[in-house]
Amino acid sequence: MKREQWKSQLGFLLAAIGSAIGLGNIWRFSYMAYTYGGGAFLIPYLTALLTAGLPLLILEFGVGHERIGSAPLAYAKIRKNWEWLGWWAVTFVMFGIVLYYTVVIAWCLNFFLLSFNLGWGDDPNSFFFKEFLSVSGAPSEIGQIRTPIFFALLFIWLVNWVIVHRGVQRGIELANKIFMPLLFLLTAVLVFWSLSLEGAMEGVRAYLTPDFSKLSDPKVWIDAYSQIFFTLSLGFGIMIAYASYLPEKANISRNAVLTAFINSGYSLFAGFAVFSVLGFMAASQGKPISEVVSQSIGLAFVAYPKAVSLMPGGNLFGAIFFLCLVVAGLSSSISIIEAFTSAMVDKFGIKRKRLIALVSILGFCGSIIFTTQAGLLWLDIVDHFLTHYGLVVVGIFECVLVGWFFRLKVLRGHINRVSTVKLGPWWDFLIKYFVPLVLGIILSGDLYNELKKPYGGYSWTSLILIGRDWVLLTLIAAFVIASRPWRTEHHRSGGRG
Ligand code: PHE
Repeated sequence: MKREQWKSQLGFLLAAIGSAIGLGNIWRFSYMAYTYGGGAFLIPYLTALLTAGLPLLILEFGVGHERIGSAPLAYAKIRKNWEWLGWWAVTFVMFGIVLYYTVVIAWCLNFFLLSFNLGWGDDPNSFFFKEFLSVSGAPSEIGQIRTPIFFALLFIWLVNWVIVHRGVQRGIELANKIFMPLLFLLTAVLVFWSLSLEGAMEGVRAYLTPDFSKLSDPKVWIDAYSQIFFTLSLGFGIMIAYASYLPEKANISRNAVLTAFINSGYSLFAGFAVFSVLGFMAASQGKPISEVVSQSIGLAFVAYPKAVSLMPGGNLFGAIFFLCLVVAGLSSSISIIEAFTSAMVDKFGIKRKRLIALVSILGFCGSIIFTTQAGLLWLDIVDHFLTHYGLVVVGIFECVLVGWFFRLKVLRGHINRVSTVKLGPWWDFLIKYFVPLVLGIILSGDLYNELKKPYGGYSWTSLILIGRDWVLLTLIAAFVIASRPWRTEHHRSGGRG
């Protein structure tokens, strides 16, 4: 069977950007910038982008394109017994990250609808936590399913299903060709609108004023590197699958540079909207900005609704903001489903459409736990473990596998042959030594903190049963799938280089 292909390079680029720009760009980035020294945070952030994010993105694009396969197939074609690594990446995103990621999109969809009549009332904080989520006291107290979240979730999975079902060109490519321009347009409206609000400049000042003293804290650097990995969707097998649908002639490194810079540029730009609104709130409530900012979840679902209620024409502003989040989220969630589907099709030759129906139904069912009253707590734990351990470990192994067991020069030669931006030996150095070292440091720091005190104040039992075991189960699943025989012949062929 012929491998599907993007209709155009632009389609591929928009899809990669669509995966990269997600919920994390809008508030996670802004919040980090704010806490970690405003404008000064750009130094670690851009350093992380250039020394690790971009080189690894080039690697993932390069591996997918050169080996012509989804993550497990591409890795199996490098070293047979490393197939599990690819399966682990696509399994913990499909049976982990996307399950709660879609639930957060479902919250955004609810808040989009609530915006029209300011349905969160006078106290958005208690509305969000007590009424909307109705959060229980502990992860073990599951309570009930929250109906509004459940139905929004159903809708989100249906949309995901329809898009991925339609295939690479008519589904993912087309959706991103609509979503991305729409997202940029809506974000621009938000940014200019919020800059015109009273007090906006105060907010912008808080956002950009550099506080260089913060840079001496290693945590700032660690978080900057993790943010770059997450935001570029690295270590999930997504960029590998997307690049495997490129034709022989494809400008790999230029596309990687564009994806990386547009993604970070978007974060920076959206930050203006977030901070102008906080400035506006501070001004209208007569409080300093530091008091209106709360944790990142609170920023979107508490602080923003509050501001929307205070603003003339706020309903529309709120609706646009939450629509942006829905659109940004959807274009990321479809990329996850595609990465897993593509891997299964490559290995077992299953009919794509049937598989997507099954995956969507399973995904929806798996998401339900996050719509219960303990949902927020589960989400917090699972997210912490998967992004800190799954993601980082895959990143390290990826560099080791490709850097040490694959002729990196051949891969670089291949990339340079098809690309306009040429890579020098510095790239080999970054992949072989620098990136694994940085990731190793992040991992040790994380492990140290993990053991020092229980994350988020949860009980050890819930952290072990929900967090650690989730990571382990996906790893076991990966080994099991990798041990099954190939039902296709793809793995017998090599790459293009
Ligand atoms: N890059 C996305 C963001 O910044 C997150 C994401 C995670 C996307 C996993 C796809 C897969 O929000």
